[in-house]
Formats: sequence, structure tokens, C-alpha cells
Amino acid sequence: MRTRIVNATLANGLKTSIDIVDGKIAGLSVSGAPDKTYDAGGKYVLPGIIDTHVHFREPGGEQKEDWTTGSHAAAAGGVTTVLDMPNTTPPTIDAGTLEQKRLLAAKSIVNYGFHLGATASNAGEIVKLQGKVAGVKIYVGSSTGSLLVAEDNELRKLFSLPGILWLVHAEDETLIQKNMGALGRVTDPGVHSWIRNWEVAIRAVKRVIALASETGARIHMCHISTKEEMMLIEQAKAERVRVTCEVSPHHLFLDESAYAAHSAFVKVNPPLRTPEDRLALWKGLHHGVIDIIATDHAPHTVQEKHQPYPQAPSGIPEVQTSLPMMLQVIGKKEFTLEWLVDVMCKKPAEIFSLNHKRCIEVTFVNGNLVFDNGKINEENKGKETHYE
Ligand code: DOR
Ligand code: ZN
Repeated sequence: MRTRIVNATLANGLKTSIDIVDGKIAGLSVSGAPDKTYDAGGKYVLPGIIDTHVHFREPGGEQKEDWTTGSHAAAAGGVTTVLDMPNTTPPTIDAGTLEQKRLLAAKSIVNYGFHLGATASNAGEIVKLQGKVAGVKIYVGSSTGSLLVAEDNELRKLFSLPGILWLVHAEDETLIQKNMGALGRVTDPGVHSWIRNWEVAIRAVKRVIALASETGARIHMCHISTKEEMMLIEQAKAERVRVTCEVSPHHLFLDESAYAAHSAFVKVNPPLRTPEDRLALWKGLHHGVIDIIATDHAPHTVQEKHQPYPQAPSGIPEVQTSLPMMLQVIGKKEFTLEWLVDVMCKKPAEIFSLNHKRCIEVTFVNGNLVFDNGKINEENKGKETHYE
């Protein structure tokens, strides 16, 4: 089955036609008759966005989202590959719970992969399942769900396992608990940014970078939200610590002033920061200190979000809106479509070893076509990504 998109403009401005054979890009400007033709009318055709950090809620949180609604939201937002986080119920922490999630995810209409969750006692499962998951998530500070590895000696043990890509939620649990205790009962959601203040993030990032430097672990810092974290990561990269990082759209587009209008609907971990942080994140993203955009898509029900501050859960749904939001800045300053493809497709694919997905280009290695764009195939059926 050969499908051709004619009159397409690629992110780099190239005007071309794109041939897709059996769901994979097979060539640009190919001659000969296709089975099916779509006319793009000169519009841009982008590769499918890769979101390496989503919290789809199945199993256990189907009232918020399941693999059907989550994957439809992704497709509607131009996201054709998602990597799902392990803080479901039950958490994805061993072969059994991974298999349970794999069966549920089979109904996804976009491509998908999984991150395993780390606990203080599942090193054996992590080693066993290496190659079956994209990475292993470590919550150094608690968030939605029960996953937590807060102690340095536990982290050191995990980081010493070879060949794993560790995704780190870096907030210092001891400091979070201390701040919560100091404050007592408060209902103003703005207090969330104080309880989980910049010190909470910096302390955790410093600890994690020191341990990665000591053990040689390969770490990916999730949702960087402050200027100081970014500076620490920049320094670590210069010192050859094996670290990459991501930023989420809510930390780029919103700051603490959003609580006034949106209350707990913008309660998220890590929390919204200052306008200065926001600007610094844009700069860091532009200059490549921040490697990629990942949404931290985390839906909750409207009723849950309407609860008073302490009870309302943290998280913002974003898989459907990240691309439209990011497209708003294209053409401003030096933000180009090619750059966007870099931070939303190409680099996510590189970091998470999705080697056959990157961007719309034809590349041959030893005579074999190696890239597709993660496009949804003709039957609208997602495929599981493989790492072995
Ligand atoms: O705000 C958040 N919500 N941060 C997380 O780390 C988890 C997420 C969720 O799953 O609700
Ligand atoms: Zn997350």
C-alpha cells in the first residue's frame, strides 16, 4: 500500500511529495503511481510529535483517562508516539504489571512505549526488564501515586545498575515534608509553589547529579522548572556527567500568577515558578541546555480539581495541546519549525532510542532505509516501540 502526500512543505522549507509504504516513509518526490493520494495544498507536513512523558491513567484511573481517550487526545494534538509513566494503580514496577499495561495499551491508536517505576526493592525486576522499557522513572520526591525513592543510599544502589536510562523527578522529599509541616492547613493553592519551592528542586538536582557523577549513571531530568536547576545541569554537562533534561509547556507558558485565575487547575509537581524562571527556560531551550519538550500530561477530573488546595491532585493534561501551544512561538525571535522538530521529535527519539523515528527525511544506512516518522498507520492502530 503506497500512499502519497503531494504539495507538502517540510519544516526546512523543502517542497516535496512524501511516499508512505505500510505506515513508513519510503521516499520523497518519488515517481510512479501511488494507491492513494492526499493533497497537502502547500501546507507544512511535520513528523509525528514524540511525547516521552505522559501519565495515561489506565490501569486504575480510568475515570480520568484510559488508553483510548489518551491516545485519541495525542493523535488530535499531532502526537504519534507516547512513552507512558509508571504511577498508575497498580504501579508499573515488575514484569506482571508491565504485561498488564501492555495488554491495556494495545488499544492505543498512537505508537507507545513504557517507563518502569523504581522502588527501593525492585532492582531485580529493573535488570530483568531492561530492553523492554524506554527508561526507569525515579520519584526522588513524592507526587501522584505511591512511587518514591528518597534516600541517597537507595538511589546510589539503583544508579549503579549498568545500562539504564533513569528519568528523575527531582524534588527533595525531606524538604517538602518540612515545608508542609511548617505551614499547617492552608487553602490558597498559591502556597504550592512555596511548599515545593526552588530550594526543594535545587537540593534534589544537586544530589542526583552528584550521584550520577559518582556512579556514571545515565540520567534524564524531568520537567526542569527553575533557572538554577538549568545552570546546574549546564555545568554537569560541561563536566561530562551523562545528563539530559526536558521542560514541560506549562512551565514555559505559565507562572505563579496563574493561580489567581485557575486555582488548583494549575497545581502541578514541580509547581509553577516566577516570570524570571519562565524566561530563563525559554532561553535554555533555545540554546540547547534543555534538550527536549515533554508534556508531563497528567489529567484529573474536574471534580477532583475543584477540591480545596490540599486535596486537589497535581497535574495538567497537555498531550493534545503541546504542539498547538509551541506553534504559537514559531516565527518569533529565532524559533523556527526546524528547531521545533528538533526538540519535539528528533532529540526525543535520540534520547529514548526510538531509532526508527526522527523527522521526515530519507536516510540510508548500509543501503537500508532507517527512518520513519512514527505516523499512525492506515488502520489507526498504534504499535508498541521496541528497544532490543
Ligand atoms: O503534577 C504531577 N502530576 N506531577 C507528577 O509527577 C505526577 C503527575 C500525575 O501523575 O498526576
Ligand atoms: Zn510526570
